[in-house]
Amino acid sequence: MSLLDSVLDASVAFSFDRTGFRRHARRFVPGDTQVSMRGKTVLVTGANSGIGFAISKALAALGATVHLACRDEGRGQRALETLRAELPTADLHLQLLDVSVLSEVQRFAERLRGPIDVLVNNAGVLPDTLSRTAEGHEVTFATNVLGPHALTSALMPRLVVARGRVITIASGGMLTQKLDLKVLQGDVERFDGVVAYAQTKRAEVILSEQWAVKQPEVTFSTMHPGWADTPAVRSSLPRFYAVMKRLLRTPEQGADTAVWLAVAPRLEGKSGLFWFDRAPAATHPLRWTRESSTDRELLWGLVEAACATATGR
Ligand SMILES: NC(=O)c1ccc[n+]([C@@H]2O[C@H](COP(=O)([O-])OP(=O)(O)OC[C@H]3O[C@@H](n4cnc5c(N)ncnc54)[C@H](OP(=O)(O)O)[C@@H]3O)[C@@H](O)[C@H]2O)c1
Repeated sequence: MSLLDSVLDASVAFSFDRTGFRRHARRFVPGDTQVSMRGKTVLVTGANSGIGFAISKALAALGATVHLACRDEGRGQRALETLRAELPTADLHLQLLDVSVLSEVQRFAERLRGPIDVLVNNAGVLPDTLSRTAEGHEVTFATNVLGPHALTSALMPRLVVARGRVITIASGGMLTQKLDLKVLQGDVERFDGVVAYAQTKRAEVILSEQWAVKQPEVTFSTMHPGWADTPAVRSSLPRFYAVMKRLLRTPEQGADTAVWLAVAPRLEGKSGLFWFDRAPAATHPLRWTRESSTDRELLWGLVEAACATATGR
């Protein structure tokens, strides 16, 4: 890496933005994503929009059967129709799923038949006020952490059979956060949506590292997309969007590493890592953000307990 590259990466902005993507893409191996996914089944949550839509489209174009898991039937149907118009021979299926409702996640996983080769936990939210799901969980935590954990658990036997891959879309925002289990669960006096979101992203990465140890048959990856122009960024971070809009990545650029993680043969044997622009990235560039091993175990215990309570397992 040149000195200029190191300086630009250290700036963060010129790494997470579209100029960063173009610079990092110079070291990509093009053949890595020229892989046939025919015969493979993929499930993408939050597939109707932004990065999830771009991932679904890229994997369908490579021949995969893609299940688009969306919470809103109208938005899901529109995404399905757009994809079918662009990829007339693609094997696409709309699935209705609100990932924040753990009992629904369990029922959904039981209904879905056959092996799963790739699960992409992409659905995510960044609300600015605190609210709770009918099951009593803070919405950011339920959507970004509990639901994906419940879905990953419920699909695990089928992921194991397929020696599959689980990819979770995290965020660079987690890099300035140390895991705090109270904040993570919305147990706070003043709610800060950006902090709550970053805590959930930190938790996603830790859980993926733990899954990688517990299930060596499956490859677990987390990635961060940089800063991409998506509906979530426009609505949840309007001031950031106003300043950065010309520099944001396209959804396809934000999705690139997740697509690569889903298909690249060179990923074999590399599980539990956090990736950015097709390269492993440090999870704790700031030392003080390191969580204790006790908190890691408490995190696993609390998500397992929440899933067990909601699903009766
Ligand atoms: N864009 C970025 O710069 C950026 C940076 C870091 C991380 N990320 C992560 O990338 C992922 C995708 O976000 P995006 O930027 O592409 O935003 P987006 O376009 O708003 O996509 C978010 C998707 O998640 C879905 N979703 C939200 N809650 C859901 C639920 N309870 N059940 C099912 N689906 C649900 C949304 O559905 P609706 O359309 O129905 O709301 C939408 O399809 C998120 O995990 C986000 O945290 C994005």
